[in-house]
Amino acid sequence: MTASSLTLAAYLVAALLFVVSLAGLSRHETARAGVGFGIAGMAIALVTVVITALGAASTLGIVLLVVAVLVGAVIGLWRARVVEMTGMPELIALMHSFVGLAAVLVGWNGYLEPGNLEASLVGIHHGEVVVGVFIGAVTFTGSIIAYLKLSAKMASAPLQLPGKNVLNLGALVAFVVLTVFFVISPSTWLLGVVTVLALLLGLHLVASIGGGDMPVVVSMLNSYSGWAAAASGFLLSNDLLIITGALVGSSGAYLSYVMCKAMNRSFLSVIAGGFGAPSSSGGAEVTGEHQETDAASVAEALAGARSVVITPGYGMAVAQAQYPVAELTRRLRDSGVQVRFGVHPVAGRLPGHMNVLLAEAQVPYDIVLEMDEINDDLAETDVVLVIGANDTVNPAATEDPTSPIAGMPVLRVWEAGQVIVFKRSMAAGYAGVQNPLFFKENTRMLFGDAKDRVEDIVAALKAMAPVGS
Ligand code: TAP
Repeated sequence: MTASSLTLAAYLVAALLFVVSLAGLSRHETARAGVGFGIAGMAIALVTVVITALGAASTLGIVLLVVAVLVGAVIGLWRARVVEMTGMPELIALMHSFVGLAAVLVGWNGYLEPGNLEASLVGIHHGEVVVGVFIGAVTFTGSIIAYLKLSAKMASAPLQLPGKNVLNLGALVAFVVLTVFFVISPSTWLLGVVTVLALLLGLHLVASIGGGDMPVVVSMLNSYSGWAAAASGFLLSNDLLIITGALVGSSGAYLSYVMCKAMNRSFLSVIAGGFGAPSSSGGAEVTGEHQETDAASVAEALAGARSVVITPGYGMAVAQAQYPVAELTRRLRDSGVQVRFGVHPVAGRLPGHMNVLLAEAQVPYDIVLEMDEINDDLAETDVVLVIGANDTVNPAATEDPTSPIAGMPVLRVWEAGQVIVFKRSMAAGYAGVQNPLFFKENTRMLFGDAKDRVEDIVAALKAMAPVGS
């Protein structure tokens, strides 16, 4: 077997592992294995690339390669260890900016050092250069703006330049025209203009989108970074990079679509910056008296219930309440209460946010159900605990056509016998919309930090239980 066929075989195995990894990540039970397959695929890919490069590189090249791998590995390990779950979207945004920058550098390198090209392939090569640089540069600046907005280092309000859609469209048309010129007659200044144009477009595109839509934008930039990597794969004649880039590109695009659907938003409007920052305008005014409760009363209600559903949201993540929630679940199940979780597809701030937290606290997978699986059972449920969720349980989405979140599918918790809402105040949720659930006859508000309140309930249940249990 020659070295190149060995390399190809290794790439094929890595590509298959990536596909299996994505399939594994789609279900709770197989997610951990999915991550394992992904790590194995990446390790094979990295080792193969390094060995192949070592064969062809100068001593300086080898030193640079080893230093780059070490620096990258140390930074990656450090960030992954210290990042909070709530800070994950901004970390991902920052990582996408690196992919974008790498694609720009690979593109420029491909232009400056084209190697020995067959005459018939020169045009295609230059087309690959300009497309790779363009997607990479848009991803680079777009991801940096997304990172700055998500980490609150920049105001999240959308930039509202006059005629912003015309500007975006104009930039795209200019790119197509410049690409044609560049393929016919390549020149450094033309590629420079495309690079600057794409950097500005990425900046403007994401700056015009409000913080509210940023998670969708991150997923979309994830898709862009995949296509940028695929473009680099063509330039470097690296099949694995093409396959991996296409996998990331298409899965990121699909994820953006799923998120938009779960929020009842139009994908195109989000990309064009049509929605902006979360707004509290619109929707019927919500009035009424809310009723408060305390941990001891909730413990009593739970002890007397046959079925309980817990719907977690962003507040559970902020409070880190998943551990006491898991303990409460164990206790109730041990005493014969049926406990299940209802997870909304966009609960929290990133896809699968709640599932990760619940898995971390070792809540059994088989009692964690998706919104569509639990919604019809809520009317038969004795008690629903809404722990730090707000928009995802807002009846205005189904009852008030003028509400900014009208049409968004929600968990119909108000149909249950009794609803307990855990939050610190009467403040609105992420979308800035008031929630009529808080004023319903069968709703009780349990104010305070979700972790403290759940611990209080566990303590009250312990006090109620016979000694020794
Ligand atoms: P949210 O509507 O964001 O509400 C979270 C609630 O948690 C708030 O009302 C807050 O009320 C409460 N809270 C915060 N800290 C708390 C603490 N320490 N203890 C107790 N409560 C606390 O939550 P949700 O229902 O999960 O909805 C998610 C929102 O994010 C949706 O609007 C969704 O569209 C949006 N979004 C999600 C995603 C993904 S992929 N998940 C992507 C984009 C956008 P207090 O301040 O009164 O405590």
